[in-house]
Amino acid sequence: AVDISCLRKETGYVTYDPGFGNTGACTSAITYVDGENGILRYRGYPIEELAAQGTFIETAYLLIFGALPTRSQRQEFRDLLSEQELLHEGLRHHFEGFPSNGHPMAILSAVINSLGCYHPDLLEITSTNDFLRAAAKIISKVRTIAAWSYRKAQGLPFMYPDPKLSYCRNFLHMMHSVPNRNFEPTDAQVRALTLFFLLHADHEQNCSCSTVRMVQSTEANLFASVSAGICALWGRLHGGANAGVVKMLEDIRDGEATIGQYIERVKRKECRLMGFGHRIYKSFDPRAKILRQAAHDMLDSIGYDDPLLDIALELAEVALNDEYFTSRKLYPNVDFYSGIILRALGIPVNMFPVMFAIGRMPGWIAHWNETNTDGTTKIHRPRQIYTGHESRPYIPLDMRL
Ligand code: ACO
Repeated sequence: AVDISCLRKETGYVTYDPGFGNTGACTSAITYVDGENGILRYRGYPIEELAAQGTFIETAYLLIFGALPTRSQRQEFRDLLSEQELLHEGLRHHFEGFPSNGHPMAILSAVINSLGCYHPDLLEITSTNDFLRAAAKIISKVRTIAAWSYRKAQGLPFMYPDPKLSYCRNFLHMMHSVPNRNFEPTDAQVRALTLFFLLHADHEQNCSCSTVRMVQSTEANLFASVSAGICALWGRLHGGANAGVVKMLEDIRDGEATIGQYIERVKRKECRLMGFGHRIYKSFDPRAKILRQAAHDMLDSIGYDDPLLDIALELAEVALNDEYFTSRKLYPNVDFYSGIILRALGIPVNMFPVMFAIGRMPGWIAHWNETNTDGTTKIHRPRQIYTGHESRPYIPLDMRL
């Protein structure tokens, strides 16, 4: 029981809602989630339709500007992204200062924040055109920064972006091409990466999105706000869950436990079934269904028989027929299959949250803009319930025990 009488005395009644499970902190017209029925829509469009017919860039445009782009708007946006894909030469030198084993999430958040130093005219956004330029810079440069942090860790020369390539092909090129040998992904690999980014593009008031909105509420600039979002995403319970799934599947592959033994451990609450369960989805996560199919298609296209996918499918089958999981409404979430896709694209596990951040960038930018322009946002300032000491006198140093 928590004593809230102090708050009553000072300020009237205050809601105590740890984790904000039942607190609406804003209104938003961007993304709709119905967790009971497994529904996800961006700006009213069902995720299944966007995944079947849309591209990541079109989806980014939709989230940020509220409508699907016309043909000419889409081309304009693509051209703008291509114009922005290079990093300022000064920014390139930042990479030299990081240790080669520096975590790519630390590099990503630091370099994205540093973009503000190179574009001081965009620290205060006063027009739609400014916003468009800042958004395009971030969405385009984030993949260059991510790929270069990987090259740095590998001791490989930086690979410059190629404006002729699509967003996802260009990213894979900067990750995996070497001088005189371009990486040529299959269409199914590009499709799987497109779906990965598109399905991660927004998910309403999760921890990182709420962080972006909170930082913006102080009128902080866009670069600083999304950089804070990257930091919030870094944690194991948010952007780090798909790495946990891969670790779990590898443990089973390596004989540390059979699927049956692992399930029994989960039931004894010694560990969790990673990639299962969700705070909002209490039936299937619609993103997981789409990624499961994409994982199959991609592995077929490259002729790669990943034993982890077989283990994942069997594990899901066992859990979905077990009363322990069904009674708690635990179903595979988006992370259950995404790690398998990323592995097959040659993405190392410590880059998994970086991949999530690239995909989530349009959502963070859309939410930043919504708070920046709606005219009703107040600085975020939650209350607390103080549980510390009552007032007590200062103790001089030589009298302290
Ligand atoms: N494996 C086993 N049991 C679970 C799991 C799981 N993955 N998730 C929840 N449960 C059980 C809990 O033990 C609890 O059981 P009890 O009622 O017997 O005590 C019950 O289900 C409710 O669990 P909560 O922790 O209250 O659920 P909450 O909504 O707070 O947690 C979360 C959601 C954090 C996602 C949780 O399901 C989890 O830890 N999943 C594994 C990690 C994961 O996959 N995270 C990615 C989420 S998606 C994303 O961030 C993009």
